[in-house]
Amino acid sequence: MVAMGSNDTCPVIRRIGILTGGGDCPGLNAVIRAVARDALECGMTVVGVEDGYLGLIENRFTEISEGRLVGILQQGGTILGSNNRSNPSKFVVGWNPAPPRGDGKPIYADVTAKCLKNLREHGVEAMVIIGGDGTLTSAATFSRMGVPCVGVPKTIDNDIVGSEITFGFQTAVATATDALDRCRTTADSHHRAMVIEVMGRNAGWIALHAGVAAGADVILIPEMPFDLTRVYTRILSRSKHGKRSSLICVSEGARPAGGQQIVAKVDPTSPDPIRLGGIGKWLAEQIEESTGVESRYVVLGHVQRGGTPVAADRVLSTMLGNHAMKLLREGKFGRLVAVQGGRLTDIDLDQPAGRQRLVPPDDPLIEAARAVGTTFCEAAA
Ligand code: F6P
Repeated sequence: MVAMGSNDTCPVIRRIGILTGGGDCPGLNAVIRAVARDALECGMTVVGVEDGYLGLIENRFTEISEGRLVGILQQGGTILGSNNRSNPSKFVVGWNPAPPRGDGKPIYADVTAKCLKNLREHGVEAMVIIGGDGTLTSAATFSRMGVPCVGVPKTIDNDIVGSEITFGFQTAVATATDALDRCRTTADSHHRAMVIEVMGRNAGWIALHAGVAAGADVILIPEMPFDLTRVYTRILSRSKHGKRSSLICVSEGARPAGGQQIVAKVDPTSPDPIRLGGIGKWLAEQIEESTGVESRYVVLGHVQRGGTPVAADRVLSTMLGNHAMKLLREGKFGRLVAVQGGRLTDIDLDQPAGRQRLVPPDDPLIEAARAVGTTFCEAAA
């Protein structure tokens, strides 16, 4: 697929494709800009795949010229569109009839061959694929099938194995911190407990960082199942000591010890079918009922994913995009750009597949949070 350069070591790539997959994330456009500007500058042509792998399957491509890149650095979302329901190896092509005639489940097909045909048709010689673990797992499949691919890790959840930070995370934390700050003032006015549910799937990074940044009194994360009695004790003790409010930052994946995560929705068409959510409402109800302290809850949801990226994410995205192009020019395919020890590096594209980088119990921020009076209310081991 790729022609070799004069010294037969580095490939000469004339045309690249860019794809953004999975849930969107602030900073995606900054990565697209960094990749495409670099490629255009090197004399390559650039084509974008629309709506993630769905566009690859449906043969929807769009040319990217310099004009498309103007003003997108600070723009939220992705100019290419995204999709988190289309895994080319397991694509939903229909549905079995509902019971009693059938099981009502999706019918899947492997449509990777169709994707390869579409890439050939558009003359794409190498791909930069920007996504989370699901998108990167498919990228690794294409790489094994001979498509020269480089991956860029993306998620507000910050849970990609092999990279200590992902772009979008810092924006999500800033948004959640702002929401927590706002909830504090209204909670203070009314002597209330305020529960703020943040995203993160099974990882508590957003809750931990935003909770610390906002001085939350209680932070509940999936990695540390909590003891409800300890939550009540903390809130009652604060009331007793004249504190006007209690601020509880809970991750959508948190659960009481011995209990289950609350699932908001199961989407069988998605490679990652479980959608978590609902712990905030449940917790606020339990707190009010058991402590008598008036409680409210806020589910931040997709507000954390939308809007303009903070400066730090624009910088990180630009660096990640630049590094992806460096790998591509060096012919280092099947690699994923990563940050380790504060430096840019690269790892195997399939390293994050099916895994999540969780908050370790000895994370220094947990210790720092405890030192300033935040409790995690974790159940005794
Ligand atoms: O992985 C990013 C994320 O925003 C999670 O924090 C959240 O659980 C999930 O995506 C929501 O997905 P959807 O866009 O399908 O609602």
